[in-house]
Amino acid sequence: TTFLVQLRHVYGLTFIEPNIQNDMDKVVTCLAPVNIAAIKYWGKRDERLILPLNDSVSLTLDCDQMHSQTSVIAGPFIKEDGIWLNGQIMPIETNERLQKCFNLIRQLIVKRKGENCPEAKWKIRVCSENNFPTAAGLASSAAGYACLVYTLANAFDLLNEDLSSIARQGSGSACRSIYGGFVHWKAGIDDLGSDSIAVQIADDTHWPEMRIIILVVNDSQKKTSSTVGMQKSVETSELLKYRIQKCVPERTTQIIQAIKDKNFEQFAEITMKDSNQFHAVCLDTYPPCVYLNQVSHEIISFVHDYNEATGQIKVSYTFDAGPNAFLFILQNDLSSFMSELIKVFPTDQPISSYIRGIVSTQSDMLKKP
Ligand code: ADP
Ligand code: DP6
Ligand code: CO
Repeated sequence: TTFLVQLRHVYGLTFIEPNIQNDMDKVVTCLAPVNIAAIKYWGKRDERLILPLNDSVSLTLDCDQMHSQTSVIAGPFIKEDGIWLNGQIMPIETNERLQKCFNLIRQLIVKRKGENCPEAKWKIRVCSENNFPTAAGLASSAAGYACLVYTLANAFDLLNEDLSSIARQGSGSACRSIYGGFVHWKAGIDDLGSDSIAVQIADDTHWPEMRIIILVVNDSQKKTSSTVGMQKSVETSELLKYRIQKCVPERTTQIIQAIKDKNFEQFAEITMKDSNQFHAVCLDTYPPCVYLNQVSHEIISFVHDYNEATGQIKVSYTFDAGPNAFLFILQNDLSSFMSELIKVFPTDQPISSYIRGIVSTQSDMLKKP
Protein backbone atom coordinates (compact mmCIF):
# COMPACT_ATOMS: atom_id res chain seq x y z
CA THR A 1 0.00 0.00 0.00
CA THR A 2 2.91 2.31 0.67
CA PHE A 3 3.86 1.96 -2.95
CA LEU A 4 0.35 2.86 -4.11
CA VAL A 5 0.37 6.05 -2.09
CA GLN A 6 3.60 7.00 -3.71
CA LEU A 7 2.37 6.23 -7.22
CA ARG A 8 -0.73 8.31 -6.76
CA HIS A 9 1.40 11.30 -5.98
CA VAL A 10 4.07 10.74 -8.51
CA TYR A 11 1.61 10.16 -11.30
CA GLY A 12 -0.28 13.16 -10.01
CA LEU A 13 2.67 15.07 -11.37
CA THR A 14 2.25 13.64 -14.85
CA PHE A 15 -1.13 15.31 -14.84
CA ILE A 16 0.55 18.66 -14.34
CA GLU A 17 3.25 17.93 -16.87
CA PRO A 18 2.02 15.28 -19.31
CA ASN A 19 5.38 14.75 -21.02
CA ILE A 20 7.19 13.86 -17.88
CA GLN A 21 9.67 11.04 -18.25
CA ASN A 22 11.93 9.67 -15.70
CA ASP A 23 15.47 8.98 -16.80
CA MET A 24 16.34 7.42 -13.52
CA ASP A 25 13.93 4.81 -14.79
CA LYS A 26 12.60 4.43 -11.31
CA VAL A 27 11.02 6.29 -8.50
CA VAL A 28 13.25 6.31 -5.47
CA THR A 29 11.36 6.32 -2.20
CA CYS A 30 12.80 6.36 1.30
CA LEU A 31 11.60 6.71 4.85
CA ALA A 32 13.33 8.63 7.62
CA PRO A 33 12.49 8.66 11.31
CA VAL A 34 12.24 11.50 13.77
CA ASN A 35 14.76 11.91 16.56
CA ILE A 36 14.08 13.21 20.04
CA ALA A 37 16.69 15.35 21.75
CA ALA A 38 17.52 14.73 25.41
CA ILE A 39 19.98 17.65 25.31
CA LYS A 40 18.30 20.30 23.21
CA TYR A 41 19.76 22.21 20.30
CA TRP A 42 18.58 25.81 20.64
CA GLY A 43 20.51 28.68 19.08
CA LYS A 44 22.73 29.11 16.03
CA ARG A 45 26.08 30.77 15.60
CA ASP A 46 25.63 30.75 11.81
CA GLU A 47 22.15 30.97 10.29
CA ARG A 48 23.14 30.16 6.73
CA LEU A 49 25.27 27.11 7.43
CA ILE A 50 23.06 26.13 10.39
CA LEU A 51 25.86 25.84 12.90
CA PRO A 52 24.63 25.48 16.48
CA LEU A 53 25.79 27.26 19.60
CA ASN A 54 25.68 24.07 21.64
CA ASP A 55 26.06 20.30 21.42
CA SER A 56 22.91 18.18 21.48
CA VAL A 57 22.18 14.51 22.15
CA SER A 58 19.23 12.55 20.80
CA LEU A 59 17.61 9.19 20.26
CA THR A 60 16.46 8.31 16.76
CA LEU A 61 13.18 6.40 16.64
CA ASP A 62 12.35 3.58 14.28
CA CYS A 63 10.69 4.33 10.98
CA ASP A 64 7.80 2.01 11.80
CA GLN A 65 5.62 4.66 13.28
CA MET A 66 6.53 8.32 12.90
CA HIS A 67 8.35 8.99 9.66
CA SER A 68 8.66 11.09 6.56
CA GLN A 69 8.28 9.32 3.25
CA THR A 70 9.89 10.98 0.29
CA SER A 71 9.89 10.04 -3.39
CA VAL A 72 12.22 11.48 -5.99
CA ILE A 73 12.22 11.41 -9.76
CA ALA A 74 14.65 13.23 -12.03
CA GLY A 75 15.42 13.56 -15.71
CA PRO A 76 15.84 15.95 -18.64
CA PHE A 77 12.11 15.99 -19.31
CA ILE A 78 11.35 17.64 -16.03
CA LYS A 79 11.32 21.36 -16.66
CA GLU A 80 11.89 22.66 -13.19
CA ASP A 81 12.61 21.54 -9.67
CA GLY A 82 9.50 21.00 -7.60
CA ILE A 83 8.63 19.69 -4.17
CA TRP A 84 5.29 18.71 -2.71
CA LEU A 85 4.86 18.34 1.02
CA ASN A 86 1.73 16.58 2.28
CA GLY A 87 0.09 17.13 -1.10
CA GLN A 88 0.84 20.85 -1.32
CA ILE A 89 3.49 22.51 -3.41
CA MET A 90 6.32 24.15 -1.48
CA PRO A 91 7.76 27.26 -3.10
CA ILE A 92 11.44 26.57 -3.74
CA GLU A 93 12.36 30.09 -4.91
CA THR A 94 11.72 31.52 -1.47
CA ASN A 95 13.04 28.55 0.48
CA GLU A 96 16.77 28.92 0.93
CA ARG A 97 17.09 25.65 2.79
CA LEU A 98 15.52 23.56 0.06
CA GLN A 99 17.71 25.27 -2.52
CA LYS A 100 20.74 24.60 -0.39
CA CYS A 101 20.00 20.87 -0.21
CA PHE A 102 19.39 20.62 -3.96
CA ASN A 103 22.59 22.57 -4.70
CA LEU A 104 24.74 20.54 -2.35
CA ILE A 105 23.47 17.31 -3.89
CA ARG A 106 24.22 18.66 -7.37
CA GLN A 107 27.73 19.62 -6.28
CA LEU A 108 28.26 16.05 -5.15
CA ILE A 109 26.95 14.70 -8.46
CA VAL A 110 29.50 16.85 -10.28
CA LYS A 111 32.28 15.85 -7.90
CA ARG A 112 31.49 12.18 -8.44
CA LYS A 113 30.56 12.04 -12.09
CA GLY A 114 32.16 15.12 -13.63
CA GLU A 115 30.81 18.46 -14.78
CA ASN A 116 29.51 17.15 -18.07
CA CYS A 117 27.54 14.23 -16.73
CA PRO A 118 23.88 14.51 -17.77
CA GLU A 119 22.58 13.99 -14.23
CA ALA A 120 24.08 17.30 -13.08
CA LYS A 121 21.59 19.13 -15.28
CA TRP A 122 18.52 17.07 -14.49
CA LYS A 123 15.69 18.76 -12.72
CA ILE A 124 14.25 17.01 -9.73
CA ARG A 125 10.72 16.38 -8.51
CA VAL A 126 10.08 15.48 -4.92
CA CYS A 127 6.97 14.31 -3.09
CA SER A 128 7.04 13.99 0.66
CA GLU A 129 4.52 13.07 3.27
CA ASN A 130 4.78 12.97 7.02
CA ASN A 131 2.56 10.37 8.68
CA PHE A 132 2.34 12.60 11.76
CA PRO A 133 1.59 16.30 12.33
CA THR A 134 3.95 18.72 10.57
CA ALA A 135 5.44 21.71 12.40
CA ALA A 136 3.73 20.78 15.67
CA GLY A 137 6.83 20.21 17.78
CA LEU A 138 7.11 16.55 16.81
CA ALA A 139 10.40 16.93 14.91
CA SER A 140 8.99 16.92 11.37
CA SER A 141 11.84 19.07 10.10
CA ALA A 142 14.33 16.48 11.37
CA ALA A 143 12.67 13.53 9.64
CA GLY A 144 11.72 15.64 6.61
CA TYR A 145 15.16 16.97 5.68
CA ALA A 146 16.95 13.76 6.61
CA CYS A 147 14.55 11.96 4.28
CA LEU A 148 14.93 14.48 1.46
CA VAL A 149 18.71 14.27 1.51
CA TYR A 150 18.80 10.52 1.93
CA THR A 151 16.35 9.94 -0.93
CA LEU A 152 18.27 12.26 -3.26
CA ALA A 153 21.51 10.52 -2.31
CA ASN A 154 19.94 7.16 -3.09
CA ALA A 155 18.64 8.39 -6.41
CA PHE A 156 22.07 9.64 -7.50
CA ASP A 157 24.29 6.97 -5.88
CA LEU A 158 25.80 9.31 -3.32
CA LEU A 159 25.30 7.19 -0.24
CA ASN A 160 28.98 7.22 0.70
CA GLU A 161 29.05 10.98 1.04
CA ASP A 162 28.60 13.03 4.20
CA LEU A 163 24.82 13.32 4.11
CA SER A 164 24.49 14.48 7.68
CA SER A 165 26.06 17.87 6.98
CA ILE A 166 23.74 18.39 4.00
CA ALA A 167 20.70 17.45 6.09
CA ARG A 168 21.93 19.88 8.77
CA GLN A 169 21.69 22.70 6.23
CA GLY A 170 18.03 21.84 5.70
CA SER A 171 17.21 21.76 9.40
CA GLY A 172 19.73 21.49 12.21
CA SER A 173 18.05 18.61 14.00
CA ALA A 174 17.92 16.64 10.73
CA CYS A 175 21.66 15.91 10.88
CA ARG A 176 20.93 13.56 13.79
CA SER A 177 18.16 11.61 12.01
CA ILE A 178 20.66 10.35 9.42
CA TYR A 179 21.95 8.01 12.14
CA GLY A 180 20.03 5.46 14.17
CA GLY A 181 20.37 4.90 17.89
CA PHE A 182 21.84 7.53 20.21
CA VAL A 183 23.44 10.47 18.45
CA HIS A 184 25.67 13.36 19.53
CA TRP A 185 25.68 16.47 17.35
CA LYS A 186 28.94 18.23 18.16
CA ALA A 187 28.59 21.97 17.80
CA GLY A 188 32.21 22.37 16.67
CA ILE A 189 34.11 25.64 16.46
CA ASP A 190 35.03 25.92 12.79
CA ASP A 191 33.45 28.86 10.93
CA LEU A 192 32.74 26.65 7.92
CA GLY A 193 31.23 23.88 10.00
CA SER A 194 33.73 21.15 9.16
CA ASP A 195 33.63 19.97 12.79
CA SER A 196 29.91 20.47 13.36
CA ILE A 197 29.01 16.85 12.87
CA ALA A 198 26.63 14.22 14.15
CA VAL A 199 28.26 11.06 15.51
CA GLN A 200 26.67 7.90 16.77
CA ILE A 201 27.12 7.30 20.50
CA ALA A 202 25.61 3.82 20.22
CA ASP A 203 23.66 2.16 17.44
CA ASP A 204 19.99 1.21 17.43
CA THR A 205 20.60 -2.16 19.06
CA HIS A 206 21.94 -0.46 22.18
CA TRP A 207 19.68 -0.29 25.24
CA PRO A 208 16.72 -2.06 23.61
CA GLU A 209 14.68 -1.71 26.83
CA MET A 210 14.44 2.02 26.25
CA ARG A 211 10.95 3.13 25.20
CA ILE A 212 9.47 6.45 24.19
CA ILE A 213 5.85 7.34 24.76
CA ILE A 214 4.65 10.24 22.66
CA LEU A 215 1.70 12.15 24.02
CA VAL A 216 0.15 14.34 21.36
CA VAL A 217 -1.42 17.15 23.31
CA ASN A 218 -2.06 19.39 20.34
CA ASP A 219 -1.22 18.59 16.74
CA SER A 220 -1.74 22.04 15.26
CA GLN A 221 1.09 24.08 13.81
CA LYS A 222 3.10 26.08 16.33
CA LYS A 223 2.90 29.85 16.23
CA THR A 224 6.65 30.39 16.32
CA SER A 225 8.77 27.99 14.28
CA SER A 226 11.90 26.56 15.90
CA THR A 227 14.01 28.60 13.50
CA VAL A 228 12.44 31.92 14.50
CA GLY A 229 12.09 31.01 18.17
CA MET A 230 15.78 30.22 18.58
CA GLN A 231 16.80 33.36 16.68
CA LYS A 232 14.84 35.44 19.17
CA SER A 233 16.35 33.55 22.09
CA VAL A 234 19.87 34.19 20.82
CA GLU A 235 19.05 37.89 20.45
CA THR A 236 17.35 38.43 23.78
CA SER A 237 17.92 35.68 26.37
CA GLU A 238 20.64 36.04 28.97
CA LEU A 239 19.75 32.60 30.28
CA LEU A 240 20.64 31.11 26.89
CA LYS A 241 24.24 32.28 27.32
CA TYR A 242 24.43 30.82 30.80
CA ARG A 243 22.93 27.54 29.58
CA ILE A 244 25.44 27.19 26.75
CA GLN A 245 28.50 28.02 28.80
CA LYS A 246 27.71 26.55 32.17
CA CYS A 247 25.22 23.72 31.71
CA VAL A 248 25.25 21.99 28.36
CA PRO A 249 28.93 20.91 28.23
CA GLU A 250 28.79 19.03 31.53
CA ARG A 251 25.36 17.58 30.84
CA THR A 252 26.49 16.34 27.45
CA THR A 253 29.45 14.46 28.93
CA GLN A 254 27.27 13.02 31.69
CA ILE A 255 24.42 11.90 29.47
CA ILE A 256 26.75 10.22 26.98
CA GLN A 257 28.22 8.26 29.88
CA ALA A 258 24.73 7.45 31.18
CA ILE A 259 23.74 6.15 27.74
CA LYS A 260 26.85 3.98 27.53
CA ASP A 261 26.31 2.66 31.07
CA LYS A 262 22.54 2.28 30.56
CA ASN A 263 22.10 4.37 33.68
CA PHE A 264 18.42 5.24 33.34
CA GLU A 265 18.06 7.46 36.40
CA GLN A 266 20.99 9.62 35.35
CA PHE A 267 19.78 9.76 31.76
CA ALA A 268 16.25 10.63 32.87
CA GLU A 269 17.21 13.34 35.33
CA ILE A 270 19.44 15.14 32.85
CA THR A 271 16.74 14.87 30.18
CA MET A 272 14.09 16.50 32.37
CA LYS A 273 16.43 19.24 33.59
CA ASP A 274 17.51 20.07 30.07
CA SER A 275 13.95 20.21 28.77
CA ASN A 276 12.96 22.47 31.66
CA GLN A 277 15.92 24.74 31.08
CA PHE A 278 15.23 24.93 27.36
CA HIS A 279 11.65 26.04 28.06
CA ALA A 280 12.92 28.49 30.67
CA VAL A 281 15.11 29.99 27.93
CA CYS A 282 12.00 30.22 25.75
CA LEU A 283 10.25 32.19 28.51
CA ASP A 284 13.36 34.30 29.04
CA THR A 285 13.16 35.22 25.35
CA TYR A 286 11.58 38.61 24.73
CA PRO A 287 8.79 38.55 23.70
CA PRO A 288 8.54 35.08 25.25
CA CYS A 289 8.03 31.90 23.22
CA VAL A 290 5.43 29.85 25.04
CA TYR A 291 5.44 26.31 23.75
CA LEU A 292 4.11 24.37 26.74
CA ASN A 293 0.45 24.55 27.70
CA GLN A 294 -1.60 23.60 30.74
CA VAL A 295 -1.75 19.92 29.77
CA SER A 296 2.04 19.85 29.26
CA HIS A 297 2.52 21.15 32.79
CA GLU A 298 0.09 18.57 34.11
CA ILE A 299 2.10 15.83 32.40
CA ILE A 300 5.27 17.20 34.03
CA SER A 301 3.63 17.11 37.47
CA PHE A 302 2.26 13.66 36.82
CA VAL A 303 5.73 12.30 35.99
CA HIS A 304 7.27 13.82 39.11
CA ASP A 305 4.44 12.51 41.29
CA TYR A 306 4.82 9.06 39.78
CA ASN A 307 8.57 9.00 40.36
CA GLU A 308 8.14 10.25 43.91
CA ALA A 309 5.57 7.55 44.64
CA THR A 310 7.87 4.80 43.35
CA GLY A 311 10.90 6.27 45.11
CA GLN A 312 12.95 6.10 41.90
CA ILE A 313 13.17 7.91 38.60
CA LYS A 314 11.15 5.49 36.50
CA VAL A 315 10.10 7.88 33.75
CA SER A 316 11.23 11.21 32.32
CA TYR A 317 9.78 13.81 29.97
CA THR A 318 11.10 16.10 27.32
CA PHE A 319 9.29 18.66 25.15
CA ASP A 320 10.43 20.16 21.85
CA ALA A 321 9.14 23.49 20.60
CA GLY A 322 5.52 22.49 21.18
CA PRO A 323 3.19 21.20 23.91
CA ASN A 324 3.60 17.50 23.04
CA ALA A 325 5.40 15.25 25.50
CA PHE A 326 8.02 12.61 24.84
CA LEU A 327 8.38 10.27 27.79
CA PHE A 328 11.35 7.96 28.26
CA ILE A 329 10.79 4.75 30.21
CA LEU A 330 12.22 1.24 30.40
CA GLN A 331 10.16 -1.67 29.07
CA ASN A 332 9.78 -3.29 32.50
CA ASP A 333 8.04 -0.25 33.90
CA LEU A 334 5.91 0.46 30.89
CA SER A 335 2.66 -1.32 31.62
CA SER A 336 2.32 -0.19 35.23
CA PHE A 337 3.07 3.38 34.20
CA MET A 338 0.65 3.31 31.26
CA SER A 339 -2.20 2.06 33.40
CA GLU A 340 -1.71 5.02 35.75
CA LEU A 341 -1.23 7.47 32.91
CA ILE A 342 -4.45 6.68 31.09
CA LYS A 343 -6.45 7.11 34.28
CA VAL A 344 -5.38 10.73 34.45
CA PHE A 345 -4.93 11.42 30.74
CA PRO A 346 -7.49 9.30 28.92
CA THR A 347 -6.97 8.93 25.22
CA ASP A 348 -9.67 8.13 22.69
CA GLN A 349 -7.28 5.99 20.71
CA PRO A 350 -5.77 2.77 21.94
CA ILE A 351 -2.04 2.64 22.43
CA SER A 352 -1.50 2.11 18.81
CA SER A 353 1.53 -0.04 18.35
CA TYR A 354 4.91 -1.10 19.49
CA ILE A 355 7.85 -0.27 17.32
CA ARG A 356 11.37 -1.18 18.27
CA GLY A 357 10.00 -0.54 21.65
CA ILE A 358 8.47 2.82 21.05
CA VAL A 359 4.90 3.33 22.03
CA SER A 360 2.81 6.20 20.91
CA THR A 361 -0.56 7.31 22.07
CA GLN A 362 -2.26 9.84 19.91
CA SER A 363 -5.19 12.02 20.66
CA ASP A 364 -5.98 15.56 19.65
CA MET A 365 -6.08 16.73 23.18
CA LEU A 366 -5.35 14.69 26.22
CA LYS A 367 -7.76 15.76 28.89
CA LYS A 368 -8.28 15.09 32.51
CA PRO A 369 -11.59 13.34 33.09
P1 ADP B 1 8.90 20.60 13.80
O1 ADP B 1 8.71 20.79 15.27
O2 ADP B 1 7.81 19.76 13.23
O3 ADP B 1 10.27 20.14 13.45
P2 ADP B 1 9.78 23.09 12.54
O4 ADP B 1 9.22 24.45 12.73
O5 ADP B 1 11.14 22.83 13.05
O6 ADP B 1 8.70 22.07 13.17
O7 ADP B 1 9.82 22.71 11.01
C1 ADP B 1 8.67 22.53 10.20
C2 ADP B 1 9.07 22.72 8.75
O8 ADP B 1 9.95 21.67 8.31
C3 ADP B 1 7.90 22.65 7.79
O9 ADP B 1 7.19 23.84 7.73
C4 ADP B 1 8.64 22.34 6.49
O10 ADP B 1 9.22 23.51 5.94
C5 ADP B 1 9.77 21.43 6.93
N1 ADP B 1 9.40 20.03 6.73
C6 ADP B 1 8.65 19.24 7.54
N2 ADP B 1 8.48 18.02 7.01
C7 ADP B 1 9.13 18.02 5.83
C8 ADP B 1 9.32 17.04 4.80
N3 ADP B 1 8.80 15.81 4.91
N4 ADP B 1 10.05 17.38 3.71
C9 ADP B 1 10.58 18.61 3.61
N5 ADP B 1 10.45 19.58 4.53
C10 ADP B 1 9.72 19.30 5.64
C1 DP6 C 1 13.53 22.16 20.28
O1 DP6 C 1 16.14 21.70 13.90
O2 DP6 C 1 13.73 22.42 13.97
O3 DP6 C 1 13.48 20.45 18.65
O4 DP6 C 1 17.69 24.18 12.54
O5 DP6 C 1 16.12 26.11 12.47
O6 DP6 C 1 15.49 23.96 11.37
P1 DP6 C 1 16.25 24.62 12.49
O7 DP6 C 1 15.53 24.15 13.84
P2 DP6 C 1 15.15 22.69 14.34
O8 DP6 C 1 15.23 22.90 15.92
C2 DP6 C 1 14.97 21.86 16.81
C3 DP6 C 1 14.83 22.40 18.20
C4 DP6 C 1 14.33 21.40 19.23
C5 DP6 C 1 15.49 20.73 19.96
C6 DP6 C 1 16.24 19.65 19.24
O9 DP6 C 1 15.66 18.92 18.42
O10 DP6 C 1 17.44 19.48 19.54
CO1 CO D 1 12.08 21.13 13.77
